Amino acid sequence: MMALRKSVEKAAEIVKGHTYARIISHYDADGITSAGIICTALLRRGIQFHTTIVSKLDRAFIQGLDEDLIIFCDMGTAQSDLIMEYLNKKDVIILDHHVPLAAPPISLESSAVLINPFSSRTDEEREMENEIGDGICAAGLSYLMARCMGGDKKANLDLAGLAVAGTLGDKLELTKGINKLILDEAIKEGVISVKKGLKLGDGKIRDLMLFSTEPYIPLAGKGEWVDAFLSKVGIKGDRNVSDLGKGEEKRLSDALFSLLREYNPEISEGALVGTTYILNSEVIRNGLNFMRMVDACGRLGNSSIGIGLCLREEGLVEAANSLYLTFQSKLVSELNRIESEKGAMKELQNIFYFFVHERGITGVLAGIVAEYLYMGKTVVVVNKQDRTEEGKVAETKISARYNKKLLAVSKGIDLAKAMEKASREVGGVGGGHPVAAGASIPEGSEEKFITALDRILGEQKESEYS
Ligand code: C5P
Repeated sequence: MMALRKSVEKAAEIVKGHTYARIISHYDADGITSAGIICTALLRRGIQFHTTIVSKLDRAFIQGLDEDLIIFCDMGTAQSDLIMEYLNKKDVIILDHHVPLAAPPISLESSAVLINPFSSRTDEEREMENEIGDGICAAGLSYLMARCMGGDKKANLDLAGLAVAGTLGDKLELTKGINKLILDEAIKEGVISVKKGLKLGDGKIRDLMLFSTEPYIPLAGKGEWVDAFLSKVGIKGDRNVSDLGKGEEKRLSDALFSLLREYNPEISEGALVGTTYILNSEVIRNGLNFMRMVDACGRLGNSSIGIGLCLREEGLVEAANSLYLTFQSKLVSELNRIESEKGAMKELQNIFYFFVHERGITGVLAGIVAEYLYMGKTVVVVNKQDRTEEGKVAETKISARYNKKLLAVSKGIDLAKAMEKASREVGGVGGGHPVAAGASIPEGSEEKFITALDRILGEQKESEYS
């Protein structure tokens, strides 16, 4: 904790000494809310900035950075050797929560500041960091730095809603470690409120069911089935979920839960019912809705709208919602295809895998399939591009997800390491987290990659017994 706190304080002091910053962040909800927090904190100090949202960091991009202060959010740990190689004359801050595959070449004495709870050097430090810092996302780390950048004790506390949205985006626990401290303080100050109930987000019931992918309701995408279901439960689909009385909400959630159970007997009620976070200072109050819209903006290549939402531009809510609906339609149509098209899902010893052509949905789709449809093995989604930008080498994007519950039986599985190794074997790059990882590989190497990944996951499983 000490190392983390010292790094955060050091970083905040460095930022305060500049008049201009370049921010580079990741294109998912955690990355965009991180950037939103930093942008707002800079604006409040009168520091100008240029923000760029990217899907990955590579050598050419890092080499091209020219500003005196560069802040990386939700990425940078894995590239810290490149950052030290090209940016060692600049002030660099990395706010990241990805587990380093090798010890990063950055220490408290370096010119760059690495704020990552998993980068501690000594075993003792690591143990403490893991206990307190495990589960914090990049938005949480950005929030801690923003809090240090203000003039008084409560400075930037109103940005806690963005930290919570980032945490929801990365599906991390809000009930322990630093996340709980952040949340408790924000609730006490009225920035966030919590309520218990259906976790579908806010909106008209019929729409929520048609587009629901978390949890994936087997009626999604099937209007007639949704109408028949709602008429059986006796609830009108054009009502808003937040307007339901306690009894009605219970009736709906019980019926939905039995439906989910028919498809997946293992599913727990927590997938459907639980805590809803209300972000009192944001333009979209429901935490899930906010996170999903920001995420869709980033994944569909409109991250500026997502950043705008984080900067509280009410005029962007409609555009963000429309991107969200587009994103959900793509997801639902792929999920329906996987369920109905024979042979769409392929199976090897250690993986289920399938191909998609839609861009931007691979990671989310893999997560849903691993959680709700094919739970027994690692799920891999392969996204071959239909066309490539002129002059660029064609790349295939891969996402892999592992159902967290399986970790209890297969502790040796580490997708970050497996994806890194398999992609390296075919000339690509990969990494991420133990249960959620990604890779980019040269077009044409897909089958070779899949075979390598299946083999490596088998080796990881075997190592549990040796
Ligand atoms: O792209 P996707 O959502 O599947 O990525 C899952 C995780 O893997 C993310 O944390 C991302 O940063 C990481 N990743 C990576 N290298 C890649 C692609 C993804 O480290 N080439």
